Amino acid sequence: MAHYPIEPFKIKMVEPIKMLSREQRIQKIKQAKYNLFNIIAEDIFIDLLTDSGTSAMSDSQWAGIMRGDESYAGSRSYLHFERSIKNIFGYKNVIPTHQGRAAEALLFSTILKPGDYVPSNIHFDTTEGNIRNNGGIPVNCVIDEGLDPASTFPFKGNVDIDKLQKLVDEVGLDNIPIAMITITNNSGGGQPVSLENIKQVYKFWKNHNVPLFIDACRYAENAYFIKLREKGYENTSVKDIAKEIFAHADGATMSAKKDALVNIGGFITMRDSELAKRMISRLIITEGFRTYGGMSGRDLEAVAIGLQEGLNEDYLKYRIEQTAYLGESLLEQGIPIVQPPGGHAIYLDARSILPNISQEFFPGQALSISLYIEGGIRSAEIGGLMFAYIDEKTGKTIYPELELVRLAIPRRVYTRSHLDFVVQTVKKVMDNRHMLKGLRITYQPKLLRHFTVELEEIS
Ligand code: F0G
Repeated sequence: MAHYPIEPFKIKMVEPIKMLSREQRIQKIKQAKYNLFNIIAEDIFIDLLTDSGTSAMSDSQWAGIMRGDESYAGSRSYLHFERSIKNIFGYKNVIPTHQGRAAEALLFSTILKPGDYVPSNIHFDTTEGNIRNNGGIPVNCVIDEGLDPASTFPFKGNVDIDKLQKLVDEVGLDNIPIAMITITNNSGGGQPVSLENIKQVYKFWKNHNVPLFIDACRYAENAYFIKLREKGYENTSVKDIAKEIFAHADGATMSAKKDALVNIGGFITMRDSELAKRMISRLIITEGFRTYGGMSGRDLEAVAIGLQEGLNEDYLKYRIEQTAYLGESLLEQGIPIVQPPGGHAIYLDARSILPNISQEFFPGQALSISLYIEGGIRSAEIGGLMFAYIDEKTGKTIYPELELVRLAIPRRVYTRSHLDFVVQTVKKVMDNRHMLKGLRITYQPKLLRHFTVELEEIS
């Protein structure tokens, strides 16, 4: 039997949830054009769409909300926010943004020219979207193990240095103004990157004079994995590991909606003050003044507190063990998942669950929809619907290598019986998988299509 950790907190406030009937759920998904983003939250029983902005805040964070200083310029809450970030990330410049993608938009609109390449292990969808939106080309250079759902390599988020070298040889350094690493690697299964790899990648780009930025959304979970899995870090505090990570990069973008345990917020922080100045000019037109950047004072306060709470090792132990519990319970039922369990989510391997539905008919989405019909569970497809694109040169559709369904776990929100219900539901779907149908697109926008796409079932 999989191990379940004891929650290092007790519950002070609750929010009711309810389950619609099966007939109602079938009706709702049809009305939603087979897109789970179109279903209203009240019609969901267990919402594993995302771990982003869905955390339960602590009593200290709520107390901070009441203390928020709403001054336009130089608020006390901004100073607290800045102190808390500098204390962990260690860079001179801190720019608040309303969430992670606003930090990405600032970064790429400032640094990219059309035709530039931006390598990473695997970019998240908004990062890809912001790179493309500024004329750039995202390139994923994760190690091969990171693309094999069955591999149990401990750091499947690592960057393959040979792939970086190949890119440099092919496109030239003049066309690579910035490089990134996503920790943990969300689109590749929430898998961590080792400190050794971060150091190697930093050295590689430093030798070529290319700045390295870390997409730091889940840096605390990544640092905890380093403590668990990387030789030499067993006795280092997670906070010191985090500091060492950021010492080996030039800056970071952060969606505070993840490891800072808040419902909204983000920032970009960096060494280079000249670059920061250029971003601040843009920030003021798009997000707001440099001491609030699209956030209220109370939200800045909640981030300042949440960042430090997110590094608490009792919390992180519970967090990582809870996710592992879901993964191991699914494995016990014979359900294929990306191994080993990631930090914030478990990823079902839709390609091996539904080998009879070819990738052009979206097996991941079919699986995701059946979890809603079977148990009112909302998950996210991370496969062809999210990432396929048309190659401009050949006109061919290029599908991603992984076809996954993500069960993301909101922080400090669901209990063991919620997760047991999820396991039972996935098992039911698995037992009836031959009945599932593929899907066809009836409407799609140009960028980030999964948010607004409309589909129909293939009969
Ligand atoms: N980078 C990564 C690795 C992410 O996972 C996300 C968001 C972002 C950037 C953008 O941050 O949402 O604050 O603008 N991921 C969420 C998810 C949406 O569900 O994984 P944001």
